[in-house]
Amino acid sequence: MALFGKKLKQEHKVMRQAERAKGALLTEYHRATPECPHPERWSMYDSMTAEAEVLEFLRTLVTTVKPDRVVETGSFLGVSTLWLAEGLKQNGFGRIVSCEYDPVVFRKAKETIAASGLEAWIELRNESSLEMQVDGMIDIFFSDSDMPIREQEIRRFLPQIKPHGIILMHDASSHLKVVREAALKMEAEGLISVILLPTPRGLVIAQKRTGRL
Ligand SMILES: C[S@@+](CC[C@H](N)C(=O)[O-])C[C@H]1O[C@@H](n2cnc3c(N)ncnc32)[C@H](O)[C@@H]1O
Repeated sequence: MALFGKKLKQEHKVMRQAERAKGALLTEYHRATPECPHPERWSMYDSMTAEAEVLEFLRTLVTTVKPDRVVETGSFLGVSTLWLAEGLKQNGFGRIVSCEYDPVVFRKAKETIAASGLEAWIELRNESSLEMQVDGMIDIFFSDSDMPIREQEIRRFLPQIKPHGIILMHDASSHLKVVREAALKMEAEGLISVILLPTPRGLVIAQKRTGRL
């Protein structure tokens, strides 16, 4: 799509599509993979926001492990941030720090979060995950920014992730490749243990290898 002759950034294009869709759920249209041959069984709001079922999973994970601190990279429109925050609200404690690099997308996410009633649980930052500083130890780390930098993110934040903390890496399907390969590489190095959830876009659930009781 062109705007004054300039190609529209993918994030901005999907942001406009999401605005037009007004929260309607669509059938997931990412391609079938050997591990997930029926993506049409899943739903999505748009192609950047995590699958609707993954959003439900994120909220349930928060109510299951009761984190004090959740860190998310790649807020996009703030939808996954809000689902994580819903879990925190249900728990009655905890906080999520989420970063979004793109200033236009960040502003939109900020507006949505301000209107959600969940703002108190969220610290939204307009910065890169590779520069973001977070105080203290992390209970859940959700890596969902730019695919090629996910490995760097995990390596960067690994010392701050609790031994029984949960690491999630989205977009880890065998088709999208780069995130899956990064997770398996870090597993082969003995840094993390990995489970590959067979969702349409793929979700890695991992834990640090050191420090577990
Ligand atoms: C897949 S979307 C995130 C979807 C969101 N987590 C959800 O499920 O609702 C990825 C987002 O990461 C942002 N991004 C890319 N590189 C980044 C970086 N280095 N730091 C923070 N955000 C980044 C993009 O602008 C984009 O909005």
